Amino acid sequence: ADVAAFREVVLDFYAAQGRTLPWRETRDPYAILVSEIMLQQTQVDRVREKYREFLGEFPTLEALAAAELSRVLTVWQGLGYNRRAVALKNCAQAAVEQLGGKLPADIARLESLPGIGPYTARAVAAFAFDIPSAFIETNIRSVFILHFFPGAESVHDRELLPLVEAALVRERPREWYYALMDYGAMLKKTRVNPSRQSAHHVRQSPFRGSNRERRSLILRS
Ligand code: ADE
Repeated sequence: ADVAAFREVVLDFYAAQGRTLPWRETRDPYAILVSEIMLQQTQVDRVREKYREFLGEFPTLEALAAAELSRVLTVWQGLGYNRRAVALKNCAQAAVEQLGGKLPADIARLESLPGIGPYTARAVAAFAFDIPSAFIETNIRSVFILHFFPGAESVHDRELLPLVEAALVRERPREWYYALMDYGAMLKKTRVNPSRQSAHHVRQSPFRGSNRERRSLILRS
């Protein structure tokens, strides 16, 4: 697989069309955990509306651990799948009791908390601590299938994970995964040939300067 060309397509797209999202403006692992749990089954636009309200009400693991569950569920309203709110509160309680309220910069230790599975542990590690590791969610899956298995109906994550690992920009996992997710979200929205689509966006880029310049800025800064 041509990893270099693939990275170029994804990072060019991100340089031109990357999203600004509130949970990308923090490195607080708790805030990032909250966003990842919310985003697992709820659309970005809806999470956007709730995310600040939730963190305003429960700004720390301690605050969430100490809160009344009924209050947590009330604030959660609109996101759906209330089980996630219960699990998040349980996770906060365990983190306070076992870890002094500090989420660890360590995938295995994150994953040992209740409610944190392999995806969430790795996403929090990447977005909060810039720890590089391979993980897959729906947008990332679409990107790798379209690029490496064009035309395939579905491909098992088992087959995708080695490619995710090989393509990972290990010096900047945080930006790399934002780029993958944004590229995948664009694919879902437009459902067109990805190479044509990225060419289209590159031409329409609102940024001055070449995409190559912007990409190297992202990779170096
Ligand atoms: N940015 C960080 N995590 C994200 C996610 N799960 N979905 C969309 N954007 C994100």
